[in-house]
This record gives sequence, C-alpha cells and structure tokens, in this order.
Amino acid sequence: MRVFAASLAVAGLASYASGHRVSDPSVRQRKSLGFGPVLKHAVYRASPYQVATHNFKRMAEDTDPFLVAQSFIEDILGNRNDASSYRIRRDSYTDPNTGITHVYVRQLINGFEVADGDMNINVKDGMILSYGNSFYPGSAPGQLTETPLGDDLVHPHQEFCDGLTEEMELRYDAFLQNQGEQVVMGDDSPAPVPDHALRQLTHVHHSNCRHQQLPLTMAAQAPNTLDLDLRSALLQFMVAATPSDHVANDILGNYDAHLSNMVEYVENHFAPSEESTHILVHNVPDTVNPVKATLAYVQVPTKDDSVRLNLVWKFEVEMQDNWYEAAVSAFPPHRIVSVVDWASDAAVPVPVPTPEKTASYNVFAWGVNDPSEGERSIEKENFDALASPIGWHSLPYANDPSLKGTKLATKEVLRNTTTTWGNNVFAQENWEGQNAYVENYRPDAGAGKSFDYAYSPKVTDKADALEEAQKFINATVAQLFYTNNMIHDLYYRYGFDEISGNFQQYNFGRGGAGNDAVIANAQDGSGYNNANFMTPPDGQNGRMRMYLWNTALPYRDGDFEAGIVIHEYSHGLSTRLTGGPLNSGCLPFGESGGMGEGWGDFLATTIRSNENYSDYAMGSWAANRVQGIRNYPYSLNDTINPSTYKTLDKPGYFGVHAIGEVWAEILWHVSQGLIAKHGFSASLYPPQPLEDGTVPEGDFYRPRSGKKALVPKHGNTLAVQLVFNGMKLQPCRPGFFEARDAIILADQQLTGGENFCTLWKGFAAKGLGPDANVVLRTPWGGGVRTDDFEMPLACGEAAEI
Ligand SMILES: *[C@@H]1O[C@H](CO)[C@@H](O)[C@H](O)[C@H]1NC(C)=O
Ligand SMILES: *[C@@H]1O[C@H](CO)[C@@H](O)[C@H](O)[C@H]1NC(C)=O
Ligand SMILES: *[C@@H]1O[C@H](CO)[C@@H](O)[C@H](O)[C@H]1NC(C)=O
Ligand SMILES: *[C@@H]1O[C@H](CO)[C@@H](O)[C@H](O)[C@H]1NC(C)=O
Repeated sequence: MRVFAASLAVAGLASYASGHRVSDPSVRQRKSLGFGPVLKHAVYRASPYQVATHNFKRMAEDTDPFLVAQSFIEDILGNRNDASSYRIRRDSYTDPNTGITHVYVRQLINGFEVADGDMNINVKDGMILSYGNSFYPGSAPGQLTETPLGDDLVHPHQEFCDGLTEEMELRYDAFLQNQGEQVVMGDDSPAPVPDHALRQLTHVHHSNCRHQQLPLTMAAQAPNTLDLDLRSALLQFMVAATPSDHVANDILGNYDAHLSNMVEYVENHFAPSEESTHILVHNVPDTVNPVKATLAYVQVPTKDDSVRLNLVWKFEVEMQDNWYEAAVSAFPPHRIVSVVDWASDAAVPVPVPTPEKTASYNVFAWGVNDPSEGERSIEKENFDALASPIGWHSLPYANDPSLKGTKLATKEVLRNTTTTWGNNVFAQENWEGQNAYVENYRPDAGAGKSFDYAYSPKVTDKADALEEAQKFINATVAQLFYTNNMIHDLYYRYGFDEISGNFQQYNFGRGGAGNDAVIANAQDGSGYNNANFMTPPDGQNGRMRMYLWNTALPYRDGDFEAGIVIHEYSHGLSTRLTGGPLNSGCLPFGESGGMGEGWGDFLATTIRSNENYSDYAMGSWAANRVQGIRNYPYSLNDTINPSTYKTLDKPGYFGVHAIGEVWAEILWHVSQGLIAKHGFSASLYPPQPLEDGTVPEGDFYRPRSGKKALVPKHGNTLAVQLVFNGMKLQPCRPGFFEARDAIILADQQLTGGENFCTLWKGFAAKGLGPDANVVLRTPWGGGVRTDDFEMPLACGEAAEI
C-alpha cells in the first residue's frame, strides 16, 4: 500500500490486513512511500492510424527498426533546441516471436536525464505501431541554474487537494487514517522529537488537505556546495523513509554527525558508459548498500497547467524492506518530488549440456492451488528445455553468489547443486527476516536429488504454532523452489525471456542482464499474513518474501498457496515488461500500480482454472476466509462480482489492491470470451522444442506458415499471450485505457485482429468500452469515471464474435 501512490514495485499481496491496527505485536506492516506528479501531457497512441498524424512516413519494411524509431523521434521532437536530446536505451529489444521491436527512449536536457521523460516506440516492418511519450515539452532551462521552488509550482499533493470535492476530501482523510500504520512511523509511541524536526516531518505524517504545507528544510543554512546538498537531501529523505522511530530520531538528533559521516565515491567505469555516472554514498543510516546518486531533472506541474523542470538528486536507496528510487530537489529546500518503491533487474555463451539426473519433489503439483485442493505428489524436475536448458539445479560457477571471491580449482563451467539453489531461483528459509540469504538454510537432497520431505503440522497452542510450522521448512523450501521454477519456465515460453528482462543468474548469451535470479524466502520472518516482491531493474536480483499466516492453527504457510507465489512473481513480470527491463518505475501508483496487482491475480486465477468454468477467490486458504482477501471473487456473474471501471471512484478504492481487483475482473471477462470462442487448453505449457531447436505446433499453436509468429490456439493460452504482449506494447505509467488498447493492438499484430470484437465485448462488459472516460485524475488513481458498456460501432449489435 502506498501513500499517494507512487511507483512501488515492492508490492505486498494483501491489503485487507493493513486496513486496521493489528494487535499482535509480531505482525509487522512494511512501511512504504510512493508518490509523484501526474503528467497531463503524457500521451499513448495505440494504433498505427493515430500515429500517422505526424510527418513521419512509413519506411521500407527491412529498415533497421532503430533507424525507424530515430527518424520518428526526430519528427516528433521537431526543431527542439540543442540542449534537449535523447538516448535510445540499451534495454530496447526485438521480440523474437512477434518481430516487434520495443524501443525505449529517455529524454536528456543539458546532458541530464529527465527522470520521467520517457518514450516507448513499437516498431515493425518499417512502421510505428504505437508509442507513448512523456517528454518534457517546454524549452530547456539554462545550464545547471538553480530552480528553486517558486510559488507557481504545485506540490503533487496540493494538486490533488485542489481537485477535491468536500466528500472526496473526507474519503481522503479516511484513506490517510487507514494508511496510518504505514505513513506514520510505527505503532509505538515515538520518543519525543525536537520541535524543528517535528515541523520537518509534518508533511509526511499529517499531509491531509486541511493542514497542507510544504516541508520546511532543516538545512536552510547549508552551504551551497553541491556535495553537501547531496548529503543533506539524502538525509532528509531517510528521515521520511525509515520505518524506525529510533533511526529517525537519531538522524534528527545527530544531524551534523551523520552529514560528516557519509562518504561519497564516484563510480568510475573502465570503458565509457552510456549510463550517467553514479556517485556512491556510504554510511547512510538504515540502508543495506551504498546509495547511488545521480543528478537529473523531473517534471513538476505548475498551477497554470504547464510543467517545469526541477533539478533533483535521483537516489537508489536499498533498505531492509524497501528499495526506493527517489527524486529530491537538488537545492534547498530539499523536497521529495517523487518516490518509487521497487520492492511491490552480453554474456559469453557456454556449451549447454542437459542435466544427467533430474530432481524430484514431494509437492502440491502445478495446478493445485493450495492444500484445500489436493494432496501432495512426487513431481519431476520437469524443466522446459528452452527456458531452463541446464535444468533447475545448475548454474555457472561465475554466476554463483555463494562463491564470490573464492578462487576455483576446477575447469568445470557449471556447478551442479543438490539444494534449492539454481540458475532461476535461490530458495531458502529466512526466519530472521533479514536481507542476507546466501548462508540461510536450504534442504540438501544429496546425489539422488529427491526432495521428499514430510509435511504434517499438528494443531498446537498459538505459542507453539511458529515452532511447529518451522519443523517443515524442508518441505516448504522445496515447494517454493518448485513453484518458482515452474513460473519461470511458463512465463519464459510466453515471452518473458532474457532480452525482455527475466530473472536468471546466467542468460546463455541470449541477451539481457544476468545475475538476477529470484531470491525466494520461505517463512520470511519480516511479517505475517502477506507476501511481497521487490523488482529492481534487470541485472539485480528480484526478491520474493513469503510469510506464514496466523489465521488458523496450525499456521498456514503461504509457500504452499501457488496463487500467492504466482501473484508475487508476476510483479517482477509486469514491472520488467512495462517500459523496458531497465525501468522499474513504470507501474508506480494509481491505475498503473493497481494493474500491477491485477495481472498477478489474473495469472494466478488463470493458472488454477480448468476446462470446467468456476469462480475463484484469491488467498482463501492462507487467509482462512472463503471469500479470500479481495472484495469479491473473480466471477462472470455481476451479482457475485459487481465491479466495473467506475467502481474505482468508490471509497476504499484508492489502494492499488482494490484497483487491481477491478482490472483482474475485467481481464477475467476478456479471457472467458476468448475461451468461449477458441476453447480451452488443459496445459498452459507449450510443447518442448525438437532436437533442432524448433518448436512444434502440436495441438497448442495454430499451424503456421513461414516466419509468422506462433499463435496459441486456445482461448486461455491466447489470453495469456495477449496479456504478455500487451505489457510490452503499453507505455510507461499506463492507465486502464492504455493497457486495454495495448491488448487490442497485441491481437491486431498476432492474429490480424480477429478477436477485436471479442476483446471489446469483454472490456465493455465491465464498463471499459470505447467511450469510458475519466476526468479529474489524481496522482494515485482518484478521479471521476464513466462506464461504457457498448462495443465499438464496427462490432454491431449482434456482431458475431
Ligand atoms: C554438471 O552437470 C553437467 C551436466 O549437466 C556436466 O556436464 C558437468 O560436468 C557437471 N559439473 C560438475 C562440476 O560436475
Ligand atoms: C531436513 O532435511 C535434512 C536432509 O536434507 C535433514 O537432515 C533434516 O533433519 C530435515 N529437517 C527437518 C526439520 O526435518
Ligand atoms: C469437468 O467436468 C466433467 C463432467 O463433470 C468431468 O468429467 C471432468 O473430469 C471435469 N474436469 C476437470 C479437470 O475437473
Ligand atoms: C448470480 O449469482 C446470484 C447470487 O449467487 C444467483 O442468485 C444468480 O442465479 C446467479 N446468476 C447466474 C446467471 O448464474
């Protein structure tokens, strides 16, 4: 949950648990900040005919797609002055299946990045299929001039308050109270803080509309040297960001000591790097790694409805429970302009052998959502030969973090393990809830690799319930490892591969950044009754934390509920696919943050469903509630799930989980429409490749001719494919409309648009028809929405769909 919604990719699973004060002191809620300005000038043009309004002309089919993109960008930018330029980001890629090249572009002004100046351009056959653009439209300011905050600048929060009716304001207050546990620092009465410090904190703690004030600076007297400004900007951010009263008080009480204790190093690259040079700041309180700092611009809305650039320090702050990307004004007063919580990432090819002996696991098999649905069984290490060519229990020595710094006496390239440690996933116990994971316990099944462990927790007293759950850590970790690898392989086959930013230590020379397997912590001690996932940019490990649920005796272990694991992993998927693998800030808050939750629910529900239609609730087993942890089960019956697009206007729908639930329900309707039309495939897994590496069509794909893309034949598999392709096509910070249009474009590209009316029918069933509309949008998803239940005219009334 976030305050003003920012781009959190540490996304917790549950929202209902945080809506009330929890009396059990061992239940800890993760604090998370997140907000940023809404850019009214950002556009997404989702079809080629909308793109054609520019001078840009379609180029020859075989033109290098990057040249096409470049010529298009230059057409859009026109005669901008020299201070404004752009950089095509190195995480741009061509999707091998669809042949679409996704080009990601970052705006530069005076040589600094504009942190929220993004373009994503989708190119195929010399043509621009669609693009998004949030470049700063104004002229560049003078070189490195101070841009102090004038009165004309609108605080993101202020802008929000200005658009409120009295009724909405009341709801906003209620919202803040609900968020209290997370916004306010902890539940215990804080130790007294000095007066000036209290004033500083006011904007964080009591930023409701009636007490609106801009943060005061503590370091108003700070000498105007940039490096001191950097440190004081960072310290002030840490005061707001730390979940610990103790740390906040310590920073405020010993401010100068902290300032002088922090040390900066410039990170020098051996080879010229296209990325901006980072400054690394060491000894920053409450961080677990040095903070990366870069100067950048961000766009800040002004009262006259235009935008202005503000020079900021962009910080990447890795903490125990959060991984923030924050923008703080470079010059005093150091205001936090935006915060994103990443928490809810060309190798030399090596020969790829097939594992000699595969492992087996005693687990709830894929498709069994949780222990209420079936028994455990012995399942093979049924790895997919395309997705995991060396199996699940092997990785190159060079990419093994447990061997960092050790000198190896072996000439072997691959290390084979007999534990839950492999190229895609590191699964382990994390009872202490800390960051370290390499030395944590994981079961060792020995040479036979048979992960067959007992699972028979007894009913105990509450006092002994934790200890009882911990007895089955072997079974739990094995399950978590198995489920994560199954997800990795499945998602790979629908296009979440190396170049699009997936999670692997070694990338087999297939592009993208490696050294980013998922760190999957079972029975993580940092909380109860929830789960979360942190998604830093490609090349840095994702981290999944699964919790125990104290909702029943014996405790229920979230590791055994596949839907929760799938939901969490899907945060990694949607964050990496939206806006490019190196931009983790594209699903920050509001509708985009909400859809980040919704895709996880949709995929979890799709994976568990079978040929016989059924409604499903999320998290029912773990939460020990039939209706699950959302407001409604996913259902085609409007009495059972009445959500429509307009539902987002309701009280209680400011949080990303509630928004996500509406999105997942809409996707459920869309996918059921595709199933009605194309039938149902019992397995979501495509066939294994033949020996020559080609993929046979089997009964899974449509027969294909020539180089055409592989198109899943059945409704459920096609729905998953369109959802993945849509994520790649949609812009950074999409809303529901952009994500819908991207799915329709994905179908246009994959099937020639044969499901145009089927897709619209699904969207329109829940109010997201072509004339659905929102006005007075706010930074975290508020606004006034209108449903549209009609299909486009082209589909007609009784159109055959
Ligand atoms: C690991 O297994 C592969 C087969 O998958 C084999 O080629 C390699 O030699 C093994 N490595 C070691 C160190 O035993
Ligand atoms: C877990 O499995 C190991 C063997 O891999 C065994 O030695 C150990 O006793 C098991 N732990 C528990 C708690 O059952
Ligand atoms: C679906 O329902 C039919 C008829 O009741 C039954 O035979 C079949 O086993 C069911 N399929 C699944 C996967 O449960
Ligand atoms: C929808 O659900 C309601 C409430 O459970 C039920 O009364 C009604 O019959 C259902 N409608 C259909 C079409 O199944």
